Amino acid sequence: AAALFANTALAGKRVVITAGPTREALDPVRYLSNHSSGKMGYALARAAVEAGARTTLVSGPVGLATPEHVERVDVISARDMLAACQERSASCDIFIACAAVADYRPAEIQDQKIKKGGEHSSLALVRNPDIVAAVAAGSPRPFTVGFAAETRDVLNYARDKLARKNLDMIVANDVAAEGLGFASDENEVTVIWREGEQALARAGKQTLARQIIQLIATHAGQPQ
Ligand code: CTP
Ligand code: CA
Repeated sequence: AAALFANTALAGKRVVITAGPTREALDPVRYLSNHSSGKMGYALARAAVEAGARTTLVSGPVGLATPEHVERVDVISARDMLAACQERSASCDIFIACAAVADYRPAEIQDQKIKKGGEHSSLALVRNPDIVAAVAAGSPRPFTVGFAAETRDVLNYARDKLARKNLDMIVANDVAAEGLGFASDENEVTVIWREGEQALARAGKQTLARQIIQLIATHAGQPQ
């Protein structure tokens, strides 16, 4: 089995990664969601396996094949994703939140298909739980990594999320940059931790995933 691993940076570690969008049901035929492709999370799962980790993907609905040697747990809504993560977070070493979780869900799910009415309509929404913050608040807690997709003030917003959610590391991503972001095969990020940061140049998501996993391995190995 040694040939399976490209490196041993995460040998014997358990890694849980969230990926893709969530879907928040409105009625039996409709939902709220976003354009997350899941590619970055799946690339991270592949890189974690290459580094020797026992790797689980908690995945929203995406059109991607399960990477080899990855355990995949399929979920739909943010609340499903939270439950799947809470079941696993106390027994993993590293948690990486790459999913684009819907911040809100419809206040009610209608049992029957909603019928149209007048010319205007509005929708009552309620906040979803914050999955990565819940994992970071656990005890014992894994080394916890978030992502921050921003369209402006990228590093400031990311640093704020690192502190507010009590994360160990955050990967800041400028989704307004041309040709980058959700559906793209390329990305360009800055990895930020408590005492430092490193910019990773624009590259394919798999290349970046390997670099991010190596940075996580370096910092997760240090006393927190
Ligand atoms: N996240 C999460 N659960 C949520 C919302 C976000 O686990 N309900 C995680 C994401 O997976 C990501 C990080 O939190 O790792 C940051 O997500 P982001 O949407 O950028 O941050 P929010 O706190 O939701 O702030 P906002 O959308 O207002 O910028
Ligand atoms: Ca959000």
